[in-house]
Amino acid sequence: MQSHEGNPSLESPPFTIVINLPNAEACARVLGKRFPQVRFIVAPDFGRLERYIGEAHGLVAFHFPVELFDRATKLRWFQSLSAGVDSMLPIRDRAGDIIVTNVRGMHGGLIADYVMAGVTILNWDFRKLLREQAERKWNFRSLTPLADKTLGVVGLGSIGTTIARRAKSAGMTVLGTKRDISVPVEGIDSLFGSDELKDLLPLCDFVVLAVPATPETAGLIGADEIACMRRDAFLINIARGSVVVESELIEALQAGRLAGAMLDVFQREPLPQDSPLWGMANVIVTPHISGIVTHYVERAFEIVAENIERYLKGLPLTNVIDLQRGY
Ligand code: GLV
Repeated sequence: MQSHEGNPSLESPPFTIVINLPNAEACARVLGKRFPQVRFIVAPDFGRLERYIGEAHGLVAFHFPVELFDRATKLRWFQSLSAGVDSMLPIRDRAGDIIVTNVRGMHGGLIADYVMAGVTILNWDFRKLLREQAERKWNFRSLTPLADKTLGVVGLGSIGTTIARRAKSAGMTVLGTKRDISVPVEGIDSLFGSDELKDLLPLCDFVVLAVPATPETAGLIGADEIACMRRDAFLINIARGSVVVESELIEALQAGRLAGAMLDVFQREPLPQDSPLWGMANVIVTPHISGIVTHYVERAFEIVAENIERYLKGLPLTNVIDLQRGY
């Protein structure tokens, strides 16, 4: 059946999915052809989301609209178009048996590209090399290969394990933290429990943050943890800004207690114009793009379509999130 945003009372088909993203219309058109038995409601903006949320059995969106939670009385399933479902954190204890799924698996490859680029740029100090090129300076030097370096991945979920495998294939020693360390992880030389973070930190030349944002990971890296890191080590954050106490990181970087950082995520996004991070010589700032693969929405909707199919057949959905764990 065709998508519409018109009078929903004209028919009452069994299953209604509200799609909340700017190009919802095109997505609903494609899904509507494949699932004629489903009613798709297009809500490209907050106003329409507010208007139709009460009819939704399923909601597909980048962020969960927590302010509308009390009106989402029919909601059975939230399909997040992001990997992180931290937008649901404020209502995670009230979400009851709403099934939450994400688009896990789409981001890891590109994020691993980002991390390995960061590791290379930071290891070679390419920013300095480019400055020297601009000044036509021929400064000879030697470098330690990545194969002699250690990278620690904090959080070995789908993204973290992809990063670990890539670092391993570059010959690095790879360490990682994980809540459950009873099962070995491919590509990891030594596994640490999440409560052993401070044992991992001093061993690493590069620390990569890949944990979800949960109350447990809020402020995971602050002054104390940075003090455990080596002064010549680098921090790479592709997780969420909330995982780092940003003011303490800035202080450490300014004081030379850490060699540098590559940051794709921040406490406030877009990163405020007056943040000192923009202008720091030992910091690389990118605009939360490390996982934004081309054709993101099309790829995400392959997962959405698979889950609709499963839902209609009564099969377990893929990429189900345990909200209490946050992944
Ligand atoms: C991006 O950060 C995502 O969670 O998909």
